[in-house]
Amino acid sequence: MSIHNEIRRVTTHRLSEMKLRGEKISMLTAYDYSMAQLVDEAGIDVILVGDSASNVMAGHTTTLPITLNEMIYHGASVVRAVNRALVVVDLPFGTYQGNSREALHSAIRIMKETAADAVKLEGGEEVLESVKRILSAGIPVMGHLGLMPQSIHKFGTYTVRAKEEAEAEKLLKDSLLLEDAGCFGIVLEKIPASLGEKVAQELKIPVIGIGAGGGVDGQVLVLHDVLGITQQFSPRFLRRYHNLAAEIKGAVGNYINDVKSRDFPNEKEQY
Ligand code: KIV
Repeated sequence: MSIHNEIRRVTTHRLSEMKLRGEKISMLTAYDYSMAQLVDEAGIDVILVGDSASNVMAGHTTTLPITLNEMIYHGASVVRAVNRALVVVDLPFGTYQGNSREALHSAIRIMKETAADAVKLEGGEEVLESVKRILSAGIPVMGHLGLMPQSIHKFGTYTVRAKEEAEAEKLLKDSLLLEDAGCFGIVLEKIPASLGEKVAQELKIPVIGIGAGGGVDGQVLVLHDVLGITQQFSPRFLRRYHNLAAEIKGAVGNYINDVKSRDFPNEKEQY
């Protein structure tokens, strides 16, 4: 039996079992083969091929420009590396809103061309028809509410969402609609901790937070923020576990010095 068969893969069903037993779910982004391999080997439960690749990988200021083809490239690279984690790929802006046929077509392309396990999309009631149509093809869907970066031009700011009662009520209602439609989980971004906890208590499906407090069923962060590769982004909810930017610059600086001083390559490093 190969090592691949011995590993028990994370499934959407396993995530609901984790919620039932009160075991927190760990989720991180990854966008490429090498990082995804390390994150998977470290034992993460869910890898999100987020459209934050638009910022982190491509240097755009928002998530809007990334295309379906680019998300498929990132998704397929990640899937090739992963043996255990559940892999979720974001549907990018403009590929599912307002047209459920196109939503289904986009989701099918992601599933066929990346071999990922599920897709994620932003929004509640306004994208429900798309959610249902994707689910009808047997494709697992994860919702995303609260701060929705694809709608940045509607709100104009990345500030905390659903602080007012009306917005909090809509968020709870949207969460229930997504659960009833058949989503296997929901990401809640940048909302008050008390609301995150309330939604997690009301829903049977796992609720994963990013800046949604400790009362939800799991946490997700952007890998490059966690490792300290990105430096400008410092929201309150972020915990950095390393300062890789300094380490990488130090290592590259040492290499440059060794090349300039003719120390590299030495006799053992040539043929
Ligand atoms: O694209 C992304 O990285 C995300 C997370 C912030 C949840 O959607």
